[in-house]
Amino acid sequence: MKSRLVLLISIVAVLVAGGLAGRHYWAMFVGGENNVADIGGPFTLVDHTGKTVTNADFHGNLSLVYFGYTYCPDVCPTALSGIAESLETLADGADQITPIFITIDPERDTPEAMADYVEVFHPRLVGLSGSVDQVTAAARAYRVFFAKVQEKDSDPEDYLMDHSAYTYLMDRQGKFLMHFPHGADPVQMAQDIAQYL
Ligand code: NI
Repeated sequence: MKSRLVLLISIVAVLVAGGLAGRHYWAMFVGGENNVADIGGPFTLVDHTGKTVTNADFHGNLSLVYFGYTYCPDVCPTALSGIAESLETLADGADQITPIFITIDPERDTPEAMADYVEVFHPRLVGLSGSVDQVTAAARAYRVFFAKVQEKDSDPEDYLMDHSAYTYLMDRQGKFLMHFPHGADPVQMAQDIAQYL
């Protein structure tokens, strides 16, 4: 309860600060911290090869799901490198896990842009994009917060995205198992994941 209150206060603070800075926020979703059963669910997105996929296409394997965007200066690259490193640590077991990167910036992160980006991190990393509505629905399903941050009078193409930076471990039916905070140790992540293999 207390941390939810803190969360609410910080959201208000961000909104106020954003308003003062002349920033524009266009989407925000926040879930209760203990509603883990609610994390995940149906989505329809477009993968980095241009193919339309749904959540069901990833069933049968565990998945590591991370939301971010390719223009992210450092948080997303760090998280995706961490995911790749945890898979490397798992060695053979890694085949049972599909790493998935879902953009919250579909206006710039086209499937083509995602294809160039995902290959930098891991040969099996799946990049998912789609329409703004599709991406918004997926983010809502995972209780992911995201917001466009546009400095006043800056180039409309030149913006940042605020976003939550959890990595979600989903089971073979796409149900939530656990999440990792940003900066989680990849070796520890691998150990945590290994208990579900
Ligand atoms: Ni990021």
